[in-house]
Amino acid sequence: MAHTTGYDRFSVWLHWLMAVLLLAEIALGLWMLGLPKGGGGLRAYWFNVHKSVGMLLGLLLLVRLAWMAVRPRVPAVPMAAAMRLLARAGHGLLYALMLLMPLSGFLGSVFSGYPIRFFGMQLPQLAQRWEPAKELLAGVHQWAAYALIALTALHVLAFLHHQFILKDGLILRMR
Ligand code: HEM
Ligand code: HEM
Repeated sequence: MAHTTGYDRFSVWLHWLMAVLLLAEIALGLWMLGLPKGGGGLRAYWFNVHKSVGMLLGLLLLVRLAWMAVRPRVPAVPMAAAMRLLARAGHGLLYALMLLMPLSGFLGSVFSGYPIRFFGMQLPQLAQRWEPAKELLAGVHQWAAYALIALTALHVLAFLHHQFILKDGLILRMR
């Protein structure tokens, strides 16, 4: 059965905008760690880009959550109750990680003591350098990133399963 009724325009737009930005942000985060320290500011430049895009993603998530609370109800996909529960849990976990990533990144950067810029605009310094907190949050940021990568892979696999095995046109709900 094809799914013709699904998410509203704004939810669809936010889903794809954030999907593209998130994948780029993950790639950037992994890549920038290999940049040499003291290499003429190149590392600092890309760290600043990463922090800015990360904070933007955090803001977009707040918009998305607020919209979720007021948007038209999305009809459930007709499938076994256990599968529906699994899909809901997966989406819930994706939302939790989309929140944890910018939070741990931001707080970790606050406790690193370096100034944080949002697309060039310097934010007020909220705390002094505090090594243990910075280390802990960097660990959370790293492991949450791995969890996000794994869960996104599962999410795309689920999409491929719907598209090519079940052939139920689930993607029509998200376009
Ligand atoms: C890159 C390829 C992607 C494809 C093909 C894809 C496809 C889809 C589809 C078809 C749905 C609708 C499922 C339904 O009707 O129940 C959906 C929902 C969702 N997707 Fe994706 N997605 C992709 C990337 C991502 C990424 C990178 C994230 C975030 C890390 C993400 C997070 C979500 C969430 C949270 C939902 C549930 C939306 C809600 O109910 O509020 N997706 N996706
Ligand atoms: C959805 C948002 C974000 C995603 C998906 C993301 C993803 C990543 C990834 C994949 C890495 C490399 C893995 C590692 O941590 O070792 C990384 C590192 C890093 N990220 Fe993010 N990030 C996000 C938001 C932020 C924000 C908002 C900040 C700061 C304002 C930030 C600051 C950092 C820093 C400083 C590193 C270098 C490693 C460290 O010291 O923890 N990130 N990020």
